[in-house]
Amino acid sequence: MYNYGLHQQINRAIQDAGMDISEKDNLFYTRFMANAAAIFDLYMQLYEHHPKAEKNFSQLVQTIIKGYKKRPEPLKQRDIVKSETTHWFLSNQITGMSLYVDRFCGDLKKLINKLDYFEKLGVNFLHLMPLFESPAGESDGGYAVSDFRKVDSRFGTLNDLKILQQEMQQRNMYLMLDIVLNHTSQRHEWAQNARQGEKKYQDYYYFYNDRSLPDQYDQTMPEIFPESAPGNFTYIEECKKWVMTVFHNYQWDLNYKNPQVLAEMVDTIFFYANLGVDVLRIDAPAFIWKQLGTTCQNLLQAHTLLRLIKQCVEVTAPGMALLGEAIVAPKEILNYFGTGNYTARECDFAYNATHMALQWDMLATGDTKVMLAAQHELLKKPFGTSWITYTRCHDDIGLGYDDYMIQQAGYNAYEHRKFLKDYYSGNHNDSPATGALFSSNPKTGDARISGSLASLCGLEKAMERNDNHLVDMSIQKIILMQAHSFFLGGLPMLFYGDEAGYTNDYSYLKEEGKSYDNRWMHRPVIDWEKNKKIDEPGTIENKVFSATQRLIAIRRKLDMVADYSNLVWMTPHNIHIAGYIRAIDDRKLFGIFNFKDKPSYLTWYAFKEHNLTAAKLFDHWENVIYDIGEDREYLVIKPYGFLLLEPV
Ligand code: GLC
Repeated sequence: MYNYGLHQQINRAIQDAGMDISEKDNLFYTRFMANAAAIFDLYMQLYEHHPKAEKNFSQLVQTIIKGYKKRPEPLKQRDIVKSETTHWFLSNQITGMSLYVDRFCGDLKKLINKLDYFEKLGVNFLHLMPLFESPAGESDGGYAVSDFRKVDSRFGTLNDLKILQQEMQQRNMYLMLDIVLNHTSQRHEWAQNARQGEKKYQDYYYFYNDRSLPDQYDQTMPEIFPESAPGNFTYIEECKKWVMTVFHNYQWDLNYKNPQVLAEMVDTIFFYANLGVDVLRIDAPAFIWKQLGTTCQNLLQAHTLLRLIKQCVEVTAPGMALLGEAIVAPKEILNYFGTGNYTARECDFAYNATHMALQWDMLATGDTKVMLAAQHELLKKPFGTSWITYTRCHDDIGLGYDDYMIQQAGYNAYEHRKFLKDYYSGNHNDSPATGALFSSNPKTGDARISGSLASLCGLEKAMERNDNHLVDMSIQKIILMQAHSFFLGGLPMLFYGDEAGYTNDYSYLKEEGKSYDNRWMHRPVIDWEKNKKIDEPGTIENKVFSATQRLIAIRRKLDMVADYSNLVWMTPHNIHIAGYIRAIDDRKLFGIFNFKDKPSYLTWYAFKEHNLTAAKLFDHWENVIYDIGEDREYLVIKPYGFLLLEPV
């Protein structure tokens, strides 16, 4: 709704900044005016009753203007190009990889020399795990930031990052970085000042004089790392107060009820945007607003905050998409794409964590029913938003889908989850997997799973046993898992090492500051001698790498797999087979995946009932043409095999 006072306020600020709204800065001005009412409204929903609401709002306006003024010209041009390709990030041309720069190749300078490696694989999007300063020994893999603007010396300098980004841009590659919005390291300047008793900075966090409020909070707040960091508060001796620490005790939760914190963090977001970030991964957004008596997760205000951030980013850096790292229940995840008037106006991306976990479910049970029971929710994703699809990432695998989905498939939820945890953590006799339980909580019985893609698919055990058949079977499973997630819809995000079949790396057990956290077992240190084997036919590395490479290349040829919310699940005729259809215009793809260790059969009728009229199907994976048979005749899919079939 038009607001004259607001219009004038923004006009004045823009004039004071010496901007040229009739020409050079016209697009920015137009965007600002288009979003101004939303920004004001969202801001007031959060801060209307704060004594400094107005003052801080004008600071936010200044921050937006300053962010744009500092935006380098090439990025402004790139914003325009991206805007012209509506929803650039839905494309089937983008494939990502997530990696720790130091563990992958040493530092940012050396990463430039690895760009050819990514191009060879077909990866053109890099998620660099947190790069900003984070104290050794208490860094949570970089998610405890002590300086949001200084690249940690382990990786190089800010300038190295800029050079890398420029080189990537030259090569048409995309960059994703994190903003750790929910907390800072206890070594951050704000935290240090707070520790010394400065009230201003204590107000940046949740500080309490005694245990009375923390005790009340603890009654309803779950624990995130119950083994290594129980409870949600930490006592600070110097100031004799308790501070909220939902994750580790060295990660202090920022208090967004204080608008000053918002202003500081929006400024940091623009700082990252102006480094050329294409997708900003907002770490742990589910936690950014706390309210006594709640779980302090997924609160309405957290969404309001994200929407506010999104509307500001659209004004200053419209080419930067937002990924909300909300690893929460399926129903909750969907809300991060926005609802109501804000549908598709909150986060552009979310992790398809539910589907990721369900793939592991299917692999262990050979049964697709639980996965299918969850799709009803997942298909509600709004048009114009997308998933990050993946099989593994740096975090654990949580079995966070709803009990009713398991029950609908005919299983007992408790027993089913117990089976999966046993299967992947090595407590099940028949399991080929090598992994471990992460964050077991004896109070709730919850636990998540750690382990690399290859080890969880059985490669580690197969190699120990020197069993070639099992090695081949585990490779087949690795590729099946990747294929299923690559064509599903969304931006496929590989995790480094998985492209070359890395099994668990146990060196973390000897490292101080890591040994307590078994997620490090699936965060390998890359051995580039071993990686040379990707070019030696017959090696495991070569088999996994070349298959991954081929999947990426095939995906690029199939425009129907771009994420235009165009996925239909095939009617299940065989519980072992997951089948989906991706269609656009007159092109169609049937993705058929056998999660069973035996051959599985699918009648041709299963295709025909989905309006298949062509006489033949071409399998892009095996390069084979199938003649479509009678309704009662079968297509046979080999153990852990898959087909990517296009009618011809
Ligand atoms: C996110 C990160 C995880 C980290 C947590 C706390 O979930 O992915 O690695 O431990 O946030 O920052």
